[in-house]
Amino acid sequence: MNAFNPSAREAANQPHAIAPLVSFDRVGKVFSVDGQAFEAIQDFSLAINEGEFIAIVGSSGCGKSTLLRLLVGLDTEFSGEIRVDGAPVAGIGGERGIVFQEHRLFPWLTVAQNIGLGLVNEKLTQGERARRVHEFVQLVGLKGFESAYPHQLSGGMAQRVAIARGLVASPRILLLDEPFGALDALTRQQLQDELLAIRERSGITTLLVTHDAEEAIYLADRVVVMAPRPGRIKSVVEIELPHPRQRTGADFHRLREQLLHQLTGDGDYLPPVLQRVEGVRPEFIAL
Ligand SMILES: Nc1ncnc2c1ncn2[C@@H]1O[C@H](COP(=O)(O)OP(=O)(O)O)[C@@H](O)[C@H]1O
Ligand SMILES: [Mg+2]
Repeated sequence: MNAFNPSAREAANQPHAIAPLVSFDRVGKVFSVDGQAFEAIQDFSLAINEGEFIAIVGSSGCGKSTLLRLLVGLDTEFSGEIRVDGAPVAGIGGERGIVFQEHRLFPWLTVAQNIGLGLVNEKLTQGERARRVHEFVQLVGLKGFESAYPHQLSGGMAQRVAIARGLVASPRILLLDEPFGALDALTRQQLQDELLAIRERSGITTLLVTHDAEEAIYLADRVVVMAPRPGRIKSVVEIELPHPRQRTGADFHRLREQLLHQLTGDGDYLPPVLQRVEGVRPEFIAL
């Protein structure tokens, strides 16, 4: 099925009438660290309906990236079950597109060639391939930059290329792992709006990992709050505010307070500015 399917939004509004597109059922993940078992994820269950926008928030190390790696099929060793459209995840598949925090573009390839990499597993003629790349170059506002190389792009433009690469194969699910974390505030807000526009147009099911409570409330239909050690669901908060959401509105403020309270409740949450100083506890940072 094509991701750009207008009926997807309608389907999402009837969550009980259809089977979920993605389901995590009692998922657990244990790493072996220096011969010791380390439980990174414990008993994670979540059903995501087609067309839904889910944000996962939680402090550094609570298992957010690990969950995405499991869903995308990059790591197949886990307990419990993950299903996409009813079928257990067994490896990487074209119906799941992923965007990482660092853009991961190839420096020796142009914008168009980097986006085209998202189509390596698709059987297309050269003409079809070029048309699809062109369509997605336009979608992310990079017309005129097709032949540019990554070093000629700003951070925001590079991340747009990464988003286009994640979308070009028309996945049913877009997975984003802190995609805007390294961008300045203004660019971040611009890209958040573009992501909403893409979602509005395509109805694509979206799973966004972020440590930014405000970003989660601005974008998502539901926010999953995770707690660390072991990584597990602490709560799920429905965001019923209509779009476009006003970051300065009273309801928005109330939801942000609620989320921050849950994130800080266990004393484990580092504000985003501190999370960038990997592994350093706030009490050790002179402000
Ligand atoms: N390959 C690995 N081997 C051992 N431990 C890992 C590995 N990947 C992640 N971890 C650990 O699992 C926990 C969750 O990591 P991660 O999913 O990256 O968290 P987050 O994305 O929420 O910051 C962390 O404690 C991390 O150190
Ligand atoms: Mg991570």
